[in-house]
Amino acid sequence: LPRPLPHNEPVLSYASGSPERAALKARLASMAKEQPDVPHVVAGNELRDGAPYEVRAPHDHSLLLATCHDGGAAIATKAIDAALAAAPGWAATPFEERLRIFTRAAELLAGPWRPVLNAATMLGQSKTAYQAEIDAACELIDFLRFNVAYASRLVEQPISPPGISNTLELRPLEGFILAITPFNFTAIAGNLPSACALMGNVVVWKPAENQSLAAYHTMRLFEAAGLPPGVINVVYGNGATVAGTCLARPELAGVHFTGSTTVFQSIWRTVGENVARYRTYPRLVGETGGKDFVFAHTSAEIEALAVGLVRGAFEYQGQKCSAASRAYIPRSIWPKVRDLAVDHIKQIRMGDVTDFRNLMGAVINERAWTRLSGWRERLAGDPKAKILTGDGWSREKGWFAGPTLVELSDPAHPLLAEELFGPVLGVYVYDDSTESGVDAALDLVDRTSPYGLTGAVFARDRAAVAKAGARLRQAAGNFYVNDKPTGAVVGQQPFGGSRASGTNDKAGSAYNLLRWASPRVIKETF
Ligand code: SER
Repeated sequence: LPRPLPHNEPVLSYASGSPERAALKARLASMAKEQPDVPHVVAGNELRDGAPYEVRAPHDHSLLLATCHDGGAAIATKAIDAALAAAPGWAATPFEERLRIFTRAAELLAGPWRPVLNAATMLGQSKTAYQAEIDAACELIDFLRFNVAYASRLVEQPISPPGISNTLELRPLEGFILAITPFNFTAIAGNLPSACALMGNVVVWKPAENQSLAAYHTMRLFEAAGLPPGVINVVYGNGATVAGTCLARPELAGVHFTGSTTVFQSIWRTVGENVARYRTYPRLVGETGGKDFVFAHTSAEIEALAVGLVRGAFEYQGQKCSAASRAYIPRSIWPKVRDLAVDHIKQIRMGDVTDFRNLMGAVINERAWTRLSGWRERLAGDPKAKILTGDGWSREKGWFAGPTLVELSDPAHPLLAEELFGPVLGVYVYDDSTESGVDAALDLVDRTSPYGLTGAVFARDRAAVAKAGARLRQAAGNFYVNDKPTGAVVGQQPFGGSRASGTNDKAGSAYNLLRWASPRVIKETF
């Protein structure tokens, strides 16, 4: 039966003295001591095969969070076999029962599991309490609840003329799905395997190394909600090995991916090379990079714009695929926007995310820090770049990268085209003295980067909004007017982009769920 759409899970404040703050603090303290030996989960069994590696808090090198194991081809193979063995039973499980399991997971997460996933996300991925709450709690709860509601509404039955009965049924895909998930969102990591499983599919799930702690607890949550063994199998370790093992199997039915453009392209290439081997054409669903823009019109409200730039670029250290990373600001308003933005940036506190006064934590790992600090050094010596802010870089205690605002005199500068995945915002100041100057700036927004994920336009002038919306039609799958380009809410702004940013199969929507179903039509005449 079609279910009504749920309400979005309310965001708790974690204000000083609130019960949720006390519960979260207690969980943070105990989790910092637990240091689990994280198992692969295969057919419901915990396996600890493979070379061990340590997972540490990005903001505190001394804090060991967990030990994981590099499962390699051997565990990946076991996971695939376990998934395939579970497939007939799961496909035969009544649809209503599958919906009940994931609804139960949402209820557990809204209740006793909330501090668990929030604490794991704060410590493991260096998110502040607010950033963890909107991700590991609210967004994942919403994904689970909305997917259940959407899944119950997908089928529109065909016409049946007199004497004929036509029925359409949604079958799972034949084979297994490989879910590869990123470090930056616990919600995405939980959604990618669970959306496929909800539709009756079996899954091999490979979480990002730097999200292992939250992935471990997410899998425990699914089990606590009653997910049968073998439906989702988790393998930790080297992604290329796990992916390579899965992509070589004839039973590969699909890949549900969020991560880098390069990795997704290499998956696509391998699937292409293997295409004749597969029993069915694998569905490839990927959300990849972004170079998300803010375009301001002369009529923009200055304070809203400055706040949108700062929050969009620097919350979660700029490590959202939706983060504002390039901005086009009219010359006539730039001095005011710049001064306000610089003022806001100077007030940002960065440090250990368990100190609730901090607005920024650390970037995810040494590799990210080294890449970002390399950019910073190049920009410092670049005559076309003026660094306006950027204090706080250090690597001693954790991987801290300061919020960096850079004005660029060259509209073709690589900082305006390439994804950095860090707290660096490039600004190009454009000539808005004529309408053709505005048109030229819109062309730059559209053509400078290969991506098409999110973007924002700030303008009070409705005609300017309409013009930008039309000109930038393909430049963003999520397009914001007078708001930052991050923070899509499930059920409100289904998320995804095209061009080099992915297949735009909108996470947490009916469009996405339909990719994990293979319809069969039955015609009956008697
Ligand atoms: N959904 C997130 C956002 O909108 C990005 O993955 O910020």
